[in-house]
Amino acid sequence: MKVFASLDVGTSKIVALIGELDSQKELHVMSKGEVPSRGVDRGSIIFLRDASHAIGEAIKEVYRKSAFDISDVILGISSSKMTSQNDTEGITLTSQSNEITEEHINKLLEAGRNKLKQEGYDILHIIPKRYKLDDAEGIINPLGLVGSKLSVDLHAIKVPTTVVLNMKRAVEEANIGVSDTVPSIIASAEAVLLEEEKEAGVLLIDIGAGLTDFILYRDGSPEVVGSVNLAGINITKDILQIMKLPFEDAERLKKEHGYAMAELIRNDEHISIYRRGEDKEITINKSEIASIIQARLEEIMERVVSKLEDANVSLDYANAGVVITGGTANLKGIKEFAEKYFSTSVRIGKPINIGSIDNSIKDPAYATAVGLLIHKVRNLDKQDFLVRSDNGIRRREGAFVNRIKKFFEDIKNML
Ligand SMILES: Nc1ncnc2c1ncn2[C@@H]1O[C@H](COP(=O)(O)OP(=O)(O)OP(=O)(O)O)[C@@H](O)[C@H]1O
Ligand SMILES: [Mg+2]
Repeated sequence: MKVFASLDVGTSKIVALIGELDSQKELHVMSKGEVPSRGVDRGSIIFLRDASHAIGEAIKEVYRKSAFDISDVILGISSSKMTSQNDTEGITLTSQSNEITEEHINKLLEAGRNKLKQEGYDILHIIPKRYKLDDAEGIINPLGLVGSKLSVDLHAIKVPTTVVLNMKRAVEEANIGVSDTVPSIIASAEAVLLEEEKEAGVLLIDIGAGLTDFILYRDGSPEVVGSVNLAGINITKDILQIMKLPFEDAERLKKEHGYAMAELIRNDEHISIYRRGEDKEITINKSEIASIIQARLEEIMERVVSKLEDANVSLDYANAGVVITGGTANLKGIKEFAEKYFSTSVRIGKPINIGSIDNSIKDPAYATAVGLLIHKVRNLDKQDFLVRSDNGIRRREGAFVNRIKKFFEDIKNML
């Protein structure tokens, strides 16, 4: 049994999850720690001390609720400056009829990584899409095949280096290690998309509080990834400004009575609310709130579409339609709104392929936190993991193996 911890530092909430991979290779969420966000805005740390305190609280809570200690977390990263790039890299093998080894593949991917390097940016994620070996195209894994010219189509996701460094620093200040950094949208995709959707082509949009991240899959691989710095908070702020309400009241109004589309509301539907600090009630037309929400959602979607266009990516690639996730996916009428906006089928993406004793994680707002665990498990190889021991002593299996490995390496270097 293996145990992992994920950490999603969002604009509205910080979530830590502990997931367990059981002997049947099924992943279960064991516990959740959640606190309102502090010191974080749209993926960036704006106040280190507050952010690390809040992170520490989320971690403490998830630890308290489970039998496991956490030494390292799988950390989600996002930024409105996140970009992605497709490229092809090739190597020529020395002699013909060379068998492709892991070394060749690593060399090829390393060359690709070097080529795609950009000043001030980290390549957070690089995905080999398809390989080509001499004239054979569409190879999924060339290992063990024979040929002389090997090339690969790559997709690289880049985030400003300082965003990654400061986010890691906030976690480390809370005395937690970071084992992996994963783009949040890659994690969300792992949690909510079906393999068939990725193969057919799908656009996933994660509308959170401060950021709207998106990813378009084509033929099973990412074609473009990006982020827009507008999301649920902007909707709340619009309501707050126009209705002259305090933030908390506008937020509640949005969640309880908000609709994504004015035409879904009858014109005469009204609600009465108390303004905080005032004793008289005010009456608000529901379709007026819906119009405010719809206008902002249209702007968010326009920004996403314009980024797709900048990358020369057509929505026609998304044969399986659009999937919406993130907390704002809970907005009433958002599916109908998006169906009309994109003229395609739309579904709301909730975390799937995961068991949990706590059903609250089946909400779109937890797509990233859940997906970070799924991503880790799908890419498991030589990483550290925590092991629950019967006598209550926790040990880190991978760390022990790594120490032995290092011991032999040190000896080798001395000889
Ligand atoms: N029922 C609802 N109707 C409308 N909006 C909702 C609803 N439930 C949650 N939201 C909105 O979802 C947003 C929070 O989403 P989420 O938890 O995905 O954000 P986050 O991960 O903290 O932030 P980000 O990823 O943008 O940094 C808030 O703006 C909240 O108002
Ligand atoms: Mg989020």
